[in-house]
Amino acid sequence: MVSIKSPREIELMRESCRRLEIVHNALGEFVKPGISTMDINKYGEQLIREQEGIPNFLDYNGYPASICVSVNEEVVHGIPSKTRILHEGDIVSLDAGLIYKGYHSDAARTYAVGKVSPEVQQLMDVTKQAFFEGIKYAREGYHLHDISNAIDDYVSRFGYGIVRDLVGHGIGTHLHEDPQIPNFRQKSRGVKLKAGMTLAIEPMINMGRWDVEWLDDDWTVVAADGLPSAHYENTILITEGEPEILTLSTN
Ligand code: CO
Repeated sequence: MVSIKSPREIELMRESCRRLEIVHNALGEFVKPGISTMDINKYGEQLIREQEGIPNFLDYNGYPASICVSVNEEVVHGIPSKTRILHEGDIVSLDAGLIYKGYHSDAARTYAVGKVSPEVQQLMDVTKQAFFEGIKYAREGYHLHDISNAIDDYVSRFGYGIVRDLVGHGIGTHLHEDPQIPNFRQKSRGVKLKAGMTLAIEPMINMGRWDVEWLDDDWTVVAADGLPSAHYENTILITEGEPEILTLSTN
């Protein structure tokens, strides 16, 4: 069942997401060659707490950190480490979320560390644009899988692999609520979209094939072919008109 948030709940979702955007913007400024992925996690957790948030990823099914930091061929759920140093030319995906007054927010950005190759830059640009192609259909009158199909249609033009093992999700009083939101083409139409639904839409796109593997830490998801992968996510609200991107006030 996909929950419809009340006006009061929507206000709390907006506030949770507004605070998460502040965290993400500060983290984006912080990324540079020479820092460790643990530095990002520590700073991110501090920022979340400054925003009076609770890190929702910490201890989620045993996940040991507040920010998922995934480098290059790591797709998502990279575990921060003091010994993993970012180098010029890397890309790094930061997935962060918080709970504010009981309401979850969730968003991810992929950043270039210094200068990256044009091929890698295109992967990041397409992954971000995939989100925007998807949310063209995030409105009443459409169905959930119109979003999935729009993302697939756009990304497939570039020959990239769309990750299939992980999907977007509803969000609210829980980090993961119904519905699941695949980023690849669906045969069914999915549920009807209704004002008051809050959704985390999060394309995860591989430069090569879509296949992924899990590392021995049981968390880190990597592209099986070892090529780079990008992730871009926002929490959005379905309205009677344009969707509201709750974790993004400016593009
Ligand atoms: Co998510």
